[in-house]
Amino acid sequence: MKNQCIISTSILSSNFKNLHSEIKDIEICGTDEIHIDVMDGEFVENLSFGLPIIKTVRSSTRLPLEAHMMVNHPIKYIKSFADAGIDIFTFHIESKSPIMKTIELIKKQNLKVGIAINPDSSISLLQKYIDYIDRIIFMSVYPGKGGQKYIQSTEDKMIEFLSLNKNKNILLGVDGGIKSETIRGAYNAGARLFISGTGILDNELGYYGAIDQLRRATLN
Ligand code: DX5
Ligand code: ZN
Repeated sequence: MKNQCIISTSILSSNFKNLHSEIKDIEICGTDEIHIDVMDGEFVENLSFGLPIIKTVRSSTRLPLEAHMMVNHPIKYIKSFADAGIDIFTFHIESKSPIMKTIELIKKQNLKVGIAINPDSSISLLQKYIDYIDRIIFMSVYPGKGGQKYIQSTEDKMIEFLSLNKNKNILLGVDGGIKSETIRGAYNAGARLFISGTGILDNELGYYGAIDQLRRATLN
C-alpha cells in the first residue's frame, strides 16, 4: 500500500466565471491533482462538461488532471481527451465499453488508467483488471452530483478489497463526501487518494485552509 496521500480537488462545484484563476487558486492552495467530472446525461442524469473545459483547465495548471468519466461509452473519448492533455483516464466498471480494450487504448495514449466503482457494485467485478490499472476510485456517493453525504460502508469495501489483494501495489481513491470528518475513516480503510469537491471549494476555511485540514486529518 502506498503511504503518501494525494488530495485531489473536484472542480464540479467550482466557480466557472473565471475558471483559469479558479484553477490557479486551487493549485496555489496546495492540491495535488485536479479531478474533472465528465457526465453524459445517460450514465448519470446530469450533463457536465467536455473538451473545451478540459483544455482550459490544462492551460491553467501543470498539475496532474484526472478525467472521471461518468459516461456510458468511455472508449469513445480516450483519444480526444488525451490530446486535450489529461493525465489519468478513469472510467466506470459499470460502463458499456469493453473493459480490457478500454484499458489497452488508454495505455496506448500513455495515460494512467483508473477504474471507478459505484457504491452498490461488487468488488468482484474489479478482480481481473487489477494487474493492468493504476488506481481504483471507490465512489463514496452515488455518481452524478457534488455535495452528497459520504457513504461510510465504502470503507468496508476497501478493507475487503485490500484483504483479497494484499500484495498488489495499487492506489485506492475515494470520491464523494470527503471532508475533514470523513477522510480519516477512508484513510484507515486504505485509501491514499482523496477526491473532494464541496469539502474544499465550499469551505469557510478557504481553499488553503480546507486542503491543509484534510491533509492534517490523514496524519493524526
Ligand atoms: C460525483 C463526483 C464527485 C463529486 C465530489 O458524481 O464524481 O467527484 O464532484 O464532490 P463532493 O466532494 O462535494 O461530494
Ligand atoms: Zn468524480
